[in-house]
Amino acid sequence: MDAKRKAQDPELVCTCNDLYVTDIQQALDEGETGYKEIFTVHEMAPRCCGCVDDVQQLVKQWQQATTDLA
Ligand code: FES
Repeated sequence: MDAKRKAQDPELVCTCNDLYVTDIQQALDEGETGYKEIFTVHEMAPRCCGCVDDVQQLVKQWQQATTDLA
């Protein structure tokens, strides 16, 4: 996790893989909600796992937003 890079770009979630918010949204749209599975959609794998809380937070927000729409 490169906290400095991440602070410079709020859309960047995983600095090990350059995984952005839009990449996570794409994985969610494809039905993946698991941490590792979200990376797998983009043919990546978590390395330091320092972004796990941020990824899970985005998943929660997405799940809440989709529940609110139902
Ligand atoms: S920031 Fe290291 S795996 Fe995501």
